[in-house]
Amino acid sequence: MNGYRVAVVGATGQVGTLMLTLLRERAFPAREIVPFASARSVGRELEGGLVVQGLDEESIQGFDLALFSAGGSTSGEWAPRFADAGAVVIDNSSRWRMHEDVPLVVSEVNPEALAGHRGIVANPNCSTMQMVVALAPLHREAGIERLVISTYQAVSGTGKRAVEELLDQSHALLHQRDIAPPDAYAHQIAFNALPHAGLFAAGDDHTDEERKLINETRRILGDQAIRVSATCVRVPVLNGHSEAVNVQTRRNLSPERARELLAGAPGVSVLDDPSAALYPLAIDVSGRDEVFVGRIRRDPGHERALDLWIVADNLRKGAALNAVQIAEALHGRGLVQAGRAPSAA
Ligand SMILES: NC(=O)c1ccc[n+]([C@@H]2O[C@H](COP(=O)([O-])OP(=O)(O)OC[C@H]3O[C@@H](n4cnc5c(N)ncnc54)[C@H](OP(=O)(O)O)[C@@H]3O)[C@@H](O)[C@H]2O)c1
Repeated sequence: MNGYRVAVVGATGQVGTLMLTLLRERAFPAREIVPFASARSVGRELEGGLVVQGLDEESIQGFDLALFSAGGSTSGEWAPRFADAGAVVIDNSSRWRMHEDVPLVVSEVNPEALAGHRGIVANPNCSTMQMVVALAPLHREAGIERLVISTYQAVSGTGKRAVEELLDQSHALLHQRDIAPPDAYAHQIAFNALPHAGLFAAGDDHTDEERKLINETRRILGDQAIRVSATCVRVPVLNGHSEAVNVQTRRNLSPERARELLAGAPGVSVLDDPSAALYPLAIDVSGRDEVFVGRIRRDPGHERALDLWIVADNLRKGAALNAVQIAEALHGRGLVQAGRAPSAA
């Protein structure tokens, strides 16, 4: 059998489209890629001539791998069915991330966790993903005790509908027209900052996005003792999440040593010369694979704390790229087998 048969579920969305591109660009050893989306898109022809399929018991048979980015309810229903049919599922939604049988993996941080997979592997939340790529080398060196995080999250993190809403509102306001009632968010996003990224569950004073940042960070870094404070803010940026992170360590860590560790860390690029106005910006990192770190400095309020500015493309490293890197790691470690699943036909 030459290569894997790969399903991409949510293939018409922002993350799914990028997963298709990255599988091709990175020459993932696939013998066939089959795109899936909702009933609305069945029959649509995508770039490269791939035709969108609908999810049903027959169409999901015979896959070795299934990359999902179609929301939590689709993953809840269909990921186990793909796994039962013999595929290893890599899921971008939050549905399986805290499930103890499901490894939650960032390719540069904890790929060894893949060995315990039982058919489903979870891709972390985008803000958590980019942050832990930068924090893992600091944690290994000095042990993180506490994090205080403020995010500045792009609208692409909400989905393509939110991107259109920001553009429509901006266009209307610049032409002195009234905007349509907000739909993707509780308030107008254009020319605004919303301290409300994610959703408030009944009775919770944190959003689910903030809870993900807290819980997933501890799980990926393998340290439940890390204390995490998080405020997630949605800003009118099209793509690329920015994060101001205060990192308090157990052992002393100088800004110079942190800069050195980050410069040598896989998947990280240091951009840190504030006197030349050089620091990572969302508009520059959009379309780039790496996680960028700048403004590395001592917190004047604490002798064992540093302040960092971490920026990455939330659709790339925050979602599609890490999913494809997990597929590559499963392949490299012999944790997925081509042709193991019974054939569809
Ligand atoms: N955006 C990010 O930065 C980011 C980061 C990490 C994780 N994620 C996760 O990735 C997923 C997708 O995000 P996105 O930004 O790509 O969203 P999106 O652009 O809105 O795309 C959603 C995709 O899901 C498909 N879909 C919706 N309902 C479906 C159903 N019932 N059955 C099958 N397919 C269905 C859509 O198909 P149609 O075109 O037919 O509607 C589309 O392909 C979400 O779970 C999100 O939480 C996103």
